[in-house]
Amino acid sequence: DDTLRSLAAPSGLRIGAAINTDKLGTDDAYTTIAGEQFSTVSPENVMKWDTIEPTQGTYNFAPADKLVAFAQQHGQLVRGHTLVWHNQLPSWLTAEADSLTADQLRAILKKHIQTEVKHFKGKIWQWDVVNEAFADDGTLRDDIWSQKLGDSYIADAFRWAHEADPKAKLFYNDYNIEYTGAKSEAVYAMVKKLQAQGVPIDGVGFQDHLDTQYGTPNLQETMQKFADLGLDTAVTEADVRTTLPVTTVEQTAQNSMWSQSLSACLLVKRCISFTVWGIDDGSSWVPSTFEGEGAALLWDDDFQPKAQFGVLQQTL
Ligand code: XIL
Repeated sequence: DDTLRSLAAPSGLRIGAAINTDKLGTDDAYTTIAGEQFSTVSPENVMKWDTIEPTQGTYNFAPADKLVAFAQQHGQLVRGHTLVWHNQLPSWLTAEADSLTADQLRAILKKHIQTEVKHFKGKIWQWDVVNEAFADDGTLRDDIWSQKLGDSYIADAFRWAHEADPKAKLFYNDYNIEYTGAKSEAVYAMVKKLQAQGVPIDGVGFQDHLDTQYGTPNLQETMQKFADLGLDTAVTEADVRTTLPVTTVEQTAQNSMWSQSLSACLLVKRCISFTVWGIDDGSSWVPSTFEGEGAALLWDDDFQPKAQFGVLQQTL
């Protein structure tokens, strides 16, 4: 059996994919790969606040429940993604945010976190409690959370999530912290401060959205630094994009970046999962987000495995 999940099993590492629940059960090739190759799944969108609570007080858990059921049928663990973020917020919230007091916003956030975490209680392995709270220069991101609540919402979010499901592993998740630099240092300092305050944080997720034009990050070194704080780490959203059409040089670079990402996780003992952000290039978020770029995943538009897939098999 040369599926990614089987090859990874002896080391204890879980291999995951972000799943588009619209395709699950409707697209056969997609659904087969999702069930066979992976031992953990993440909802690409359906656990985000705009899907979960589209109008205030009305909850839409069905799409995420469908993914959790699929995971249970296939012996997969679930990464919950994500409770607090500046994107994909429901419009009722963004519309009224300016007129809310800090106390009102805090109460809304607490209710959101605890309602969602309780709904999935016992079914989530790792929660991305706070996603992308920092800017690349290492300052707190200027969003509705920091504007109204300063940085206090981060510790609160972890405490509220822990109260609602004490057994779930609680993660801080971000991008560009794969590289050493201001952002990674800021997240490191925050995590140390949270630990000193007794805040229940269990891990740090490295999104790992890579691009051949920016080169290979020092992921092993940065992950190890966080692991040395006594935390779990995870690669949570791996993909390696490049400009289209892909040249031989870019393909070679992609292969090497995939292998180094997975090696980094294998070499850091506390790295407990390696999740890729989608299955096929045809439904990847990359082409609609980064002009002229794509080919970021392991299967092509026709669900044929790409060289990158073989690279991961060989690395495991
Ligand atoms: C992306 C999804 O892949 C898209 O389908 C959606 O339109 C926007 O969000 N960082 C994250 C993910 O933490 O939630 C994002 O997912 C990609 C960047």
